[in-house]
Amino acid sequence: MSRTIVVTSGKGGVGKSSISINLGYALASAGHKVCLIDADFGLKNLDVMMGLENRVIYDLKDVIANKCSLNQILVKDKRMDSLFLLPACKSLSFENLNIDYMMKMIEHLKEDFDFILIDSPAGIEKGFQYASGLCQEAIIVVTLDVVSLRDADRVVGLLLKQGVTQLHMLVNKYNDDDIHKGRCLNLKDAYDILSIPLLGIVYDDHLMIEANNKGMPAYMNKTLSISQCFDRIVKRLQGIEVPFQKNKKKPLLERIFK
Ligand SMILES: Nc1ncnc2c1ncn2[C@@H]1O[C@H](COP(=O)(O)OP(=O)(O)O)[C@@H](O)[C@H]1O
Ligand SMILES: [Mg+2]
Repeated sequence: MSRTIVVTSGKGGVGKSSISINLGYALASAGHKVCLIDADFGLKNLDVMMGLENRVIYDLKDVIANKCSLNQILVKDKRMDSLFLLPACKSLSFENLNIDYMMKMIEHLKEDFDFILIDSPAGIEKGFQYASGLCQEAIIVVTLDVVSLRDADRVVGLLLKQGVTQLHMLVNKYNDDDIHKGRCLNLKDAYDILSIPLLGIVYDDHLMIEANNKGMPAYMNKTLSISQCFDRIVKRLQGIEVPFQKNKKKPLLERIFK
């Protein structure tokens, strides 16, 4: 059955777009057909981060104006045949689109795709509410700092109110050294604040920044430990138990988070 998942956060800059893209690649390489929707309409980032900017010809505005079909705005990825991008449209505001129209669009996409990942705009404004209104499931991206986790807690409350009950926490920019030196919160703190299951961690790695800037997603470099983080996340999304961390320094935490 097809799954529609919104990738969201409270605080901006925690890595929603990076996670959406790399998870898209990881799901596609595990044999799934994936559609990434860039719902951060004002910014329009995913096409650039995936190196697909020059391939975007039409956008949602053209579909609404009957200038092209929904299938024509989907941009096929250069590296993965089963990964497609529905790009954002700068001159259109996501929340001003007709919700029934968007629901129909998602239903149509569900016929063709195994996973639809929606990269939500930051914050809890209309764009976020709109994006999450289209899903049953959400990945809440956090970093291990108080502001990110407090803001995420607010988002969890709003998602539950909207009826999005299948919630996963994903800790991005995870840095073992910072945790052990007490420079940031740890995974138990994060769990205590949010009380939602941990789907996985993605290491803090400057190669992620470089990859995003080159339009060549970090996941595609299979030698990176970041790439393995996403493979584990894909397995957990499918209900397969995988060790939480290779470097098992905290067996208690591993038992808590699986
Ligand atoms: N795991 C990571 N390690 C290092 N930098 C990261 C990581 N994930 C994201 N970044 C960087 O953090 C910044 C914000 O990421 P982005 O995905 O645009 O966040 P958001 O979509 O939440 O605003 C970018 O410069 C990105 O390259
Ligand atoms: Mg973003």
